[in-house]
Parts: sequence; structure tokens; C-alpha cells
Amino acid sequence: MCAKPDQPSTEGTSFARWGSSFSMKKISFIFVCFIILLFLYFSKIHEWPSVKILLDLQSHTRTAQTHATEGPFVTPYKEMTVEDVMSSLQGNLPTATNFTSFQSSSSARHSVARLEQPRAQFCVGDTLNVLVEMRDYRGRPKAYGGDFILARIHSPKLQASASGDVTDLHNGSYRVHFTLFWPGEVQVSVLLIHPSEAVQVLWRTRKQNYNKIAYTGTFASGSKTETSLCSFRLPKNRPLCEYKDEEQGEYFACVRPPTLPCSSLKTLYSYNTPGPSLTKEETRLLARENIALPIRNNFSAVKVIHCTVTTQRPTEKCVAGMKSPFPSGYFFANRWTSSFCQTSSFLSEDAINSCLMGRRLYFRGDSTVHQYYYYLEKKLTDLKFQGSFGPCLSQLAVDSRRNITVHYMKHFTPWISAHHIPVNGCVYVSRDLEKLELIGDGDGRQDAVVISFGQHFRAFPLEFFIHRLLNLRRAITQLQARSPQTLVMVKLENTRELNSKVLCLSDWYGYMQNMAQRKVFGDLKVALLDAWDITVAANTFAVHPHEIIVSNEVALFLSHLCHHP
Ligand SMILES: *[C@@H]1O[C@H](CO)[C@@H](O)[C@H](O)[C@H]1NC(C)=O
Ligand SMILES: *[C@@H]1O[C@H](CO)[C@@H](O)[C@H](O)[C@H]1NC(C)=O
Ligand SMILES: *[C@@H]1O[C@H](CO)[C@@H](O)[C@H](O)[C@H]1NC(C)=O
Ligand SMILES: *[C@@H]1O[C@H](CO)[C@@H](O)[C@H](O)[C@H]1NC(C)=O
Repeated sequence: MCAKPDQPSTEGTSFARWGSSFSMKKISFIFVCFIILLFLYFSKIHEWPSVKILLDLQSHTRTAQTHATEGPFVTPYKEMTVEDVMSSLQGNLPTATNFTSFQSSSSARHSVARLEQPRAQFCVGDTLNVLVEMRDYRGRPKAYGGDFILARIHSPKLQASASGDVTDLHNGSYRVHFTLFWPGEVQVSVLLIHPSEAVQVLWRTRKQNYNKIAYTGTFASGSKTETSLCSFRLPKNRPLCEYKDEEQGEYFACVRPPTLPCSSLKTLYSYNTPGPSLTKEETRLLARENIALPIRNNFSAVKVIHCTVTTQRPTEKCVAGMKSPFPSGYFFANRWTSSFCQTSSFLSEDAINSCLMGRRLYFRGDSTVHQYYYYLEKKLTDLKFQGSFGPCLSQLAVDSRRNITVHYMKHFTPWISAHHIPVNGCVYVSRDLEKLELIGDGDGRQDAVVISFGQHFRAFPLEFFIHRLLNLRRAITQLQARSPQTLVMVKLENTRELNSKVLCLSDWYGYMQNMAQRKVFGDLKVALLDAWDITVAANTFAVHPHEIIVSNEVALFLSHLCHHP
């Protein structure tokens, strides 16, 4: 059997449910359980050194069991399971199962968006409510929800835009709330990304399906090279090389190469399999020409004016652990301003340098956070690239005068990429966080870790991604216990190209993954960088957004690290 990604955590789940009405007896009982759990947990720590990790290659023996010497780590946060997260997402999962024909699916062209309370003009700060009424291709009103809709307001001349918050009324109508952040002529755009019938297909084909993407592993030793099939799930009817981190429940395997040892696996590259079979109608639903179609407004641009002399600005500093609302901000003159905390414009080289002085930044994850690394390396002339080396070809840049270190490392497999992605020397981000040396409090400096992953998980079951998130959740709470000053930020997924292979990479998958990230990290002292909100507002639909977007995301990150430029 493969390691089950959805197996419940073995760490005490039961001492999380404190209530005020417990009797003394219950409390004593819980206390005894607590002691037993502590004991179990502690004995588990002492098993750790025997856990075989990954590729047993030179660079990552499990040396840094920092808390093994400090006694058991007891998290103040509730343990969370894959099931907890899945059930919190229930309301977003498609329920309709009545797909009969393409003609009865939601049609953007037949649907309409109306203003709920039309007025001659609105004030900055007002809410604008739009009601979207969906119809099918025959023009009949839809009676159930589940359509995947993205909405934004924008004033192109002002380079201003913001996302709308879409609520499914589950009867074929949707309410979209916008906050009117700036004065001017404001246009409303509502896109039907996928009709609910297509969402249904996306959801069905993702369940338990590890086979949309396959991997070829390259083994090398000396001058000899061999390749074989690799996957997160392989039938055991052939000899396998299994790479597991049992404690974290992480697993992948390759068919054993003819002669080379399992430990000689160097790289993986992916390719698309023929994928799940769809009916003709389903294929049509998911065709590019039926993705992201605009829904007609029955109103024109709205007029927004300043009604009071003073504009309300957020009074709180940006700190980790704040609840990020949606929308969380807006663009004006191509600059992103948060709606709930004070963002500073860390856009000039001087401002960025003075914020980063003496700090170490660790970027961990996919290419979307590598963009942050790369932006800084390019923007800051004294920050010099030191080379691509170390575990997993990580990248390091240093400004030795200002004592700034910026380090990027890829997350571990899966990567959806036809390039040879190294696995040799790579570790799961949760394992890497155990080893990071961070500056503690006292010296006035604060290091930062920015984590981003998701895009490469879209082709695999949601539970697989959530399992990875929960390992990260545990690693973050442990990191914060030993280094409370470190800023931990999780960058949510941004939208991507609409012509991406939809069954592997649809933005609906990304949307669901972001909901999962909000759930998993929402109660921690972690800053969520809502790249989804930012890229929906900016209408980018690019996995690697333009530098204007990246510079604003980095500025938002720095606003959490330094409160003044
Ligand atoms: C499915 O179709 C049946 C019969 O037409 C209808 O009663 C039911 O409400 C439909 N379900 C949904 C989710 O629309
Ligand atoms: C859908 O539900 C909303 C809120 O309950 C209601 O205001 C609206 O009239 C309903 N629409 C239809 C078409 O039934
Ligand atoms: C938009 O729809 C509303 C509600 O049906 C209607 O009252 C209004 O006249 C329509 N406006 C336009 C410009 O068609
Ligand atoms: C530079 O920063 C490191 C930690 O990042 C610290 O140990 C070292 O003392 C600093 N050096 C100088 C010259 O400030």
C-alpha cells in the first residue's frame, strides 16, 4: 500500500476541544489523556532518527531535531486533519449532478448582471451590489448554483481596479459585492469562467486521480543513465523504488531502473497522459471558447464621487495573523493599496534596501515566488547573485555591504514541467523549515520566510495538496515556537492563462486550493499574501504576472516586514 496522504495525524487531536462547561472530572480525564499523548508524542520523537528520509543522498540527513533536546513541542493551535479542511470546503463543492446536455448548461451570453440599487452616483467607500442571473443556452433561468464566476471593477484611464466578492445564492443567481475604492467612472466586468456543469466535470475528474500527469525519472551514476516511470501511486506488480517520508506521510515511487540503484535518481520531468475520458458534450463544456466568457451588464459604468472631505485609510499596521478580507485592496495608478492595513510603497531601490538591511529572506516554493527573488536580485544593484548551488539547485543572492541575504529553493515534487526538475538533494518545504537558522529576537532584526505552492498540485487530488499544507502548518508552528520574530508569509496562488490545459490546471482548482490554504493557515500568525485577489483585480490571467504586479506583491510583503520605507 502506498502511504496514505489522508491518514489522520497521530498527534493529539483530542486535547484541542476545550470548552468552558467541562466538569472537574472531565478535565482530569483530559489531563490524563494529555499526559498520555505527550508521552506518545515524545516517544515518537525518539523514533525519528530511524525514519528513512527520501533519497538517502548525502546532503540531507536529519540532523536538526531542534526540539528533541528541548522537550516535546506542544502547539497552542488545534490539530487539523485533511477531513476537517475538506468539510470546511463543502459549501464550495458542486452539488448539481443534472448535466444532460450542453444546451442546458449556463450560458454567459444568455445571462445578465444587474445593479441591485441603481443610483445616479455613488460615494467612495460605498458598496456596489450586482445581481447575476444565470440562464442556459436555451435562455431558461438556471435553478441551481455552482458556476465559477470572477468579477472586478475597473477604471482603465486611472489604472485602477479591484475584485468583487461573489456569493452563490444556490438558485441560479449570484450576488457580487464591490467596494468603491476610488472616484471616477467605474466599469463592472463579470466573467463566467466555468459553468457549474463544467465545474462538476473538473471536480469529478480530480477525485482520487493521480494519473493526469505522469513522470519520467532519470537515474544517473558515472557515465550511465537510465530512465523509468515515476508517480505518486504505482501498482506494486513491478519492483519499485519507493521514496517516502513516513512521518510526514509523503510518498512517491519509480519503477526500479534495470541496473542503477534507487538512490541515483536525479531528476523528474512530467508529461500529460491522455487523461480522463469525457463525453463529447463534456469536452465541449471545457473547450477554450467556452471558458471565461463575459456576462452582459444591463447597466453602464457607474459614477463615483468623494462625498466626504477625508478619505478613510486603514489605521493598523500590516502584521502576520490579520484576517484578510476579500477584496483585500485595490489598484490605483498601478499601485496596490491594502484595504485593511497600512501599505507603504516599497517600490524604489532605496526604500527596499533600507527595509532589508541586515535581514535574511527565504523564498520557498514554485516559480511564482521565484519571481519575487528574481525581482529583488534585478532591482537591487548591490544584491549579487552568488550562484545556483546547494540542495536542489537553490539560488542565493547577497548584498554584503548591507548584510542582506536572499535565498530561493524549489518545493519538492510535484512539478508539472517538461524540464528535468532536480529531486536529488531536494526536501519538502516542511523539512527545510526545521533546519532554517533564523535570527531570534533581541537584535532588532527579523528574518522572513515566504512560501508559495499550489500551481503544480492542481492536476492531483485536493487531499494530496491539503496533506502537504498540513505538514507545512506543523512546520510553521514549530518554527515560530523557536523563532517567534520570524515573519512567515504564505503567498496564495494567482490566476493563470485561460488556455492552460484545463483538466490539469484550471483556475477553479487554484481557487479551491486557496480556500484550503485560508483554512489551514487562517488561525496561525501567518500573513496571507492574496495574489489571487491582486491578479483577479488586474485581470492578468498569467501564471507569471507582469513585473508591475510582482513589484506590488513584494511591496505588500515588505509592508509586513518594515512599517516605514
Ligand atoms: C435535477 O433534476 C430534477 C428533476 O428535473 C430536479 O428536481 C432537481 O432539482 C435537479 N437538481 C438540481 C441540483 O438542479
Ligand atoms: C434567489 O435567492 C435570492 C436570495 O434568497 C432571492 O433574492 C432571489 O429572488 C432568488 N432568485 C430566484 C430567481 O429565485
Ligand atoms: C435592468 O434590469 C432591471 C431589472 O430587471 C430593469 O428594471 C432595468 O430597466 C434594466 N435596465 C436596463 C438599462 O435595461
Ligand atoms: C550579518 O547578519 C548576520 C545574520 O544574518 C549576523 O550574524 C552578522 O553578525 C551580520 N554581520 C554584520 C557585519 O552585521
